[in-house]
Amino acid sequence: MAKLIINADSPKGTIDRNIYGHFSEHLGRCIYEGIWVGLDSPIPNTEGMRNDVIEALKKLQIPVLRWPGGCFADEYHWKDGVGPAEKRKRMINTHWGGVLENNHFGTHEFLRLCELIEAEPYISGNVGSGTVAEMSEWVEYMTFDGESPMANWRQENGREKPWKLTYFGVGNENWGCGGDMRPEYYADLYRRYACYVRNYGDNRIFKIACGANSADYNWTEVLMREAAKYMDGLSLHYYTIPTGNWKDKGSATDFGELEWFQTLEKTLFMDELITRHDTIMTKYDPEKRVALIVDEWGTWFNVEPGTNPGFLYQQNTMRDALVAGINLNIFHKHSDRVRMANIAQVVNVLQSVILTEGADMLLTPTYHVFDMYKVHQGASLISTHAESPSYEMNGKKIDQLSVSASLDTANQLHISLCNLHHSDHLEVNCDVRGRTVRSVTGRILTSDNIQSHNTFDEPETVKLMDFTNYRFENDQLIVTLPAKSVVTLRLS
Ligand code: AHR
Repeated sequence: MAKLIINADSPKGTIDRNIYGHFSEHLGRCIYEGIWVGLDSPIPNTEGMRNDVIEALKKLQIPVLRWPGGCFADEYHWKDGVGPAEKRKRMINTHWGGVLENNHFGTHEFLRLCELIEAEPYISGNVGSGTVAEMSEWVEYMTFDGESPMANWRQENGREKPWKLTYFGVGNENWGCGGDMRPEYYADLYRRYACYVRNYGDNRIFKIACGANSADYNWTEVLMREAAKYMDGLSLHYYTIPTGNWKDKGSATDFGELEWFQTLEKTLFMDELITRHDTIMTKYDPEKRVALIVDEWGTWFNVEPGTNPGFLYQQNTMRDALVAGINLNIFHKHSDRVRMANIAQVVNVLQSVILTEGADMLLTPTYHVFDMYKVHQGASLISTHAESPSYEMNGKKIDQLSVSASLDTANQLHISLCNLHHSDHLEVNCDVRGRTVRSVTGRILTSDNIQSHNTFDEPETVKLMDFTNYRFENDQLIVTLPAKSVVTLRLS
């Protein structure tokens, strides 16, 4: 039995809805096929973008979508992707499979997609192989309202009014694929590039500097020391790789109990990572003005057998659902510093919420977690105290329960609970303080076995169901979570 105290009368601050952000890169079948099928496609589409995917993403209430990369961002030249499609330059996508990139999906198409799914755009600029002028002109092209070379060109290309653009990343992984830089060098480059990312009219850009790779705390130290006052956000990338070995990351579907455990244990490391990066940031920014933006997170497994290794296509099981629930709970807990996160990636790449195959589309277990958890977007974090049994394997121990609670603007209390155990159910004794709970409604995601996933033949193997497994005893709410489950409850 786990004990859970929920201090419903002590809201702690807002869970920024941008924590529910997503990431889309010109990588494999994310943009092409996953989102963009082109105007002449037999797949039903709106201005070239598939309707089924638009509908599914709209339903998730995605607050923000990052584009065009990733590693692709630092070799992307935006001018190649505007103007008449047939005249656009074709390039090699050297990072991702060496395939031809015809630039048919560019700035106008991405910003239109954001309008269609009602998400805010987050654009990553090119520091690694682009110029300051190129970055500056991109922002002018998108946001300047008036006469200027870039605004005129935008109008010639069919867009009269500028777009509203808030989030702009100055480079991506500049410690690696974005230029192999040292933090001191990048900090100076960041200051230079960011200086020319202008605010036009009343558009205000929220500038995001490239942050650390996982536990590279020195990167955060140097960036905060040298450039904190020029940035609004600093990123962090951390992927869950069960084996910890990039050469053999393990299969997405063919795994046992040990890999299940290791995956969840590695996911929980996100908590320590954020705490330690936050501590460094707080040294330079005690008011927490600079946000930590976890703009790449999620599982990274071996690609599905027979698929292009450069396309990072992987299936998504109940294990991924737990990874999503745990990470979202951790982001909530750190919502005073973590004010955006973007799971990698939205369709057909890494831990996707959607997979497509030709005209077919399926929703992954991760999609369902985002669907259940959307009640926490923009809500007030509620403090919880959990005493959880340990989940032990191979000499290691983790908590069996991961939990988060929030109060929404309609004063509704929502709790999300994850039972990490592969085989044991968990009773949770909930002591809700500060309000009387009379009724409970909820939804659950669970599965028959740890490898359960949705396929194009059986797209509903893992699906959301109503949750009724609770009872009241002496004014306490007792909830029984089946093994490997994610549950969200509304307590009224
Ligand atoms: O998401 C896949 C890749 O992972 C991104 O392009 C890069 O930023 C990271 O290394």
